[in-house]
Amino acid sequence: MSANPKVPRHIAIIMDGNGRWARQRGLPRIEGHRAGAESVRAAVHAAGEAGVKYLTLYAFSVENWRRPKQEVSGLMRLLVRYLRSEIDELDRNNVRLETIGRLEDLPKSAQRELEEARQRLSKNTGLTLIVALSYGGRTELVDAMRKIAGEVQAGRLRPEQIDEATISGALYTAKFPDPDLLIRTSGEMRLSNFLLWQTSYTEIWITPTLWPDFRKEDFLQALADYRKRERRFGGIEPT
Ligand code: IPE
Ligand code: IPE
Ligand code: MG
Repeated sequence: MSANPKVPRHIAIIMDGNGRWARQRGLPRIEGHRAGAESVRAAVHAAGEAGVKYLTLYAFSVENWRRPKQEVSGLMRLLVRYLRSEIDELDRNNVRLETIGRLEDLPKSAQRELEEARQRLSKNTGLTLIVALSYGGRTELVDAMRKIAGEVQAGRLRPEQIDEATISGALYTAKFPDPDLLIRTSGEMRLSNFLLWQTSYTEIWITPTLWPDFRKEDFLQALADYRKRERRFGGIEPT
């Protein structure tokens, strides 16, 4: 199924709208985040079933550290809880786990849990689930520039040898293909500092659905829309 070019190899999702979902119900914001875990489950399952190879989820941005302390610590606790409760199911579904972002910013408990889960799932061969945590597209480019400058300074790389592949290879996403499809929930029409370099030719699909309401049907609708897109990459349409 994954051989079908009309099935995106890599889907990235900006999971947005948890706070609004909670507010609409008169609940604290954290309840929206809690409810969002069910949508993560649905998306991971649907992606695996559809033959998608990589699924990147924007779970926490570098800018999200600006939120109230209570919300941030609540989100970190939910992350640990999610990993603990889902690890067996992820393993059964042959899912691998990777992370992108400044993981060192996360509480030690979350770092440990992520590393344990990553190792436990490392032999799996199905969907690769990539969780973006303390992630920022510009921060990623800063980290890549530092890496490349270090190589130049050490005499292992000459400036004129730097090309697009050098930069792609210095990003957190070096091992992964660029996303074919970017989904954003809650209707916001912006990238919010997500995968700035990698989305240069990504197809974008935005739904008004809030993340906690996102289910398999929404995912399948995104896939159906993607199938109708004509990707030209700057060329002209085939005659
Ligand atoms: C997305 O939902 C989850 C995170 C950013 C962690 P929000 O918390 O941004 O929800 P809204 O956008 O305020 O509704
Ligand atoms: C983007 O959502 C980050 C995540 C989904 C983790 P935000 O809610 O933080 O983005 P803005 O502030 O609406 O741009
Ligand atoms: Mg938001």
